[in-house]
Amino acid sequence: MPSNALATWKEELRKGLHALEARNLRRSLTEVHGVNLCSNDYLGLAEHSKLLEATINAVQHAHKVGGTGSRLLSGQTEEWRILEEEFAKFAGTEEALFFGSGYAANVGLLASLVGKDDVVYSDVLNHASLIDGMRLSGARKVIYPHLDLDALEDLLREEAGAPWRKVIITESVFSMDGDVAPLKEIAGLADKYGAAIILDEAHSTGVLGPQGRGLAAEAGIVPQLLAVVHTCGKALGCAGAFVCGPAVLKEHLINHARTFIFSTALPPYFSRQIGAALDLAAGMDKERRELQERAERFRSALRAEGFDIAGSASQIVPVVFGKIDETLAAAEHLQQDGFAVRAIRPPSVPEGKARLRFSLTCRVPEAELDRLVRSLVTWRARHPVLTTARRA
Ligand SMILES: Cc1ncc(COP(=O)(O)O)c(C=O)c1O
Repeated sequence: MPSNALATWKEELRKGLHALEARNLRRSLTEVHGVNLCSNDYLGLAEHSKLLEATINAVQHAHKVGGTGSRLLSGQTEEWRILEEEFAKFAGTEEALFFGSGYAANVGLLASLVGKDDVVYSDVLNHASLIDGMRLSGARKVIYPHLDLDALEDLLREEAGAPWRKVIITESVFSMDGDVAPLKEIAGLADKYGAAIILDEAHSTGVLGPQGRGLAAEAGIVPQLLAVVHTCGKALGCAGAFVCGPAVLKEHLINHARTFIFSTALPPYFSRQIGAALDLAAGMDKERRELQERAERFRSALRAEGFDIAGSASQIVPVVFGKIDETLAAAEHLQQDGFAVRAIRPPSVPEGKARLRFSLTCRVPEAELDRLVRSLVTWRARHPVLTTARRA
């Protein structure tokens, strides 16, 4: 590249970053200091001594520490085969296939499964990985308002009897609002209008449902799902994700999902880490219960103070400020009080919905959550313009 071309590119990039900065939207990488309220390690497994021990042990006994190739080439090992069998049992599906991340799982799944002749019905707040997968697939997108099943039914009714395939795509616990999809009702609509369902359980895996098997298991609808994605980078304290479903789906993905095919397998010892996390998580009913109780208490305290916590009903609890500058200022105040919190801004959330997103884990003591509420109240007292209300 001639040097002036490089200089022009760099200048354009700088301008782009300045434009973001001018709108308070420039991001930077920051390390976690203080009470950690921005971690998805809901069960504290990433720092659990038994998981650390199991991982060290797995590395010590590993015959190779690299993936060495795609699973279709040299990356397939007995360890991955066994883990996928175990995970399918956990998910209650015929089969499971591991991907290197939840993002890769959703993109690979959607881009290979649906196509331009299909229609996807997608909740407006679905995660970026689902959105990107839908975009890549070329399917016709029908976006329905968040959790609005009347609207979804109207949209499905409009195309009732049409010959094309229809798929409803939703998260079970929404990553930014912490609210929960009514899965039984969605399954009822899918049944009524001949649609399939793809479910992303990222924030319920390990945390919600019987033994942490997710909300589809709780609702008893797993057999109705075309695919369900469980991630390992959140409550399981590892990384990666499984797409779970019928055996024929797994075969299809092995043959068509580009994020699976054209990517190096993770090393075999990592499958042992995930297996150990799965075993530990299975026995953590007490932690799951405590986490939900703590989250409920925290939500009630925030609501009682008049903060807008959207529809949160889980361990993910937002406080919606709306304005970006207010959100950034509140985050800074809490950081100074010793809390690791992050301001969430568009495009991660819709315009006008900037917020603090607190993700609660077993490692955050109740007393710190009480202190957090007091700190927020203090901040608000100094910033009376803050919009609150919307008491549930
Ligand atoms: C709902 C949802 N799906 C998928 C993902 C992607 O998972 P991963 O972080 O493993 O790529 C995330 C991550 O934040 C998520 O919140």
